Amino acid sequence: MKRTETPVAGYVLGHSQPELERLVQQGRFFGELTEIMLLKAGLAPGMRVLDAGCGAGDVSFLAAKLVGPEGLVIGVDQSAEAIALAQQRAQSAGLSNVQFIAADLADFQFDGEPVDALIGRFVLMYFPDPAAVMRRLLAFVKPGGIVAFQELDLAPAPPVEIMCQPICETYVAAATRITQTFARAGIDGRTAIKLGQIFQRAGLPAPQMLAMLRVERGADSPIYEWVAQITRTLLPLIQQTGVATAEAVQVDTLAERMRREAVEKDCTLITPPLIAAWACKQ
Ligand SMILES: C[S@@+](CC[C@H](N)C(=O)[O-])C[C@H]1O[C@@H](n2cnc3c(N)ncnc32)[C@H](O)[C@@H]1O
Repeated sequence: MKRTETPVAGYVLGHSQPELERLVQQGRFFGELTEIMLLKAGLAPGMRVLDAGCGAGDVSFLAAKLVGPEGLVIGVDQSAEAIALAQQRAQSAGLSNVQFIAADLADFQFDGEPVDALIGRFVLMYFPDPAAVMRRLLAFVKPGGIVAFQELDLAPAPPVEIMCQPICETYVAAATRITQTFARAGIDGRTAIKLGQIFQRAGLPAPQMLAMLRVERGADSPIYEWVAQITRTLLPLIQQTGVATAEAVQVDTLAERMRREAVEKDCTLITPPLIAAWACKQ
């Protein structure tokens, strides 16, 4: 199979309507783990918050709940489509304490008052130099302000015994394809576990860190759809990087095949860890 070693430039997941819907469902799947980080980091009523790479707005909405009507959350994303969806969702929910701006974080200029907190989820891994982007965003944070980021740790070859018990081969194969595709596209899947170094290189003190993951069982778990949906988004790249062919992936039946095997074998599956890091700007 043809394989390219050249890293794929730009944001690999794209902004199609199905991908934006995937972000919303992923937001539901991981929402409580992100809320734990935001609470531990100290988000509180009345704060003004910048959400970097807000996508369809899910992290902004969690933050908006914590800062309350006296606070304000400003979500920034390069995708006009994502921003339009986030704005529409805010309007439908009647939220007046969130605003969304379409801009590239690499050259975004924030002319408002410095914020009390800078937050982000699943965004730093898409930057070749995450510390550099964090350093420039820190200019928009007031001294003493909170910085909190959460990334998914995609280790290249986690022991299968840790991913599931008993082993669910369809899940292992699907998760491995995703990790390999990110790696071959030149994305650092270990950005999450490097958050400590990234914070310090950006000029922040050593952050507090916490790893959290979801443990899933049974026919009703959302994990099968989560894995199948990322696979669907990544399918062109899975093929382009030579990880697998569309025929081998069979994305249309992937969720059901994972579910059937996991239920038949009574498997418990775990997601890769979400690693959170938070610190205060000095
Ligand atoms: C995986 S999504 C996560 C979205 C959201 N943080 C969440 O957790 O639901 C990553 C988001 O980062 C945005 N992004 C990536 N690179 C960016 C850049 N250079 N400037 C602004 N946004 C960027 C993408 O457009 C995308 O919406």
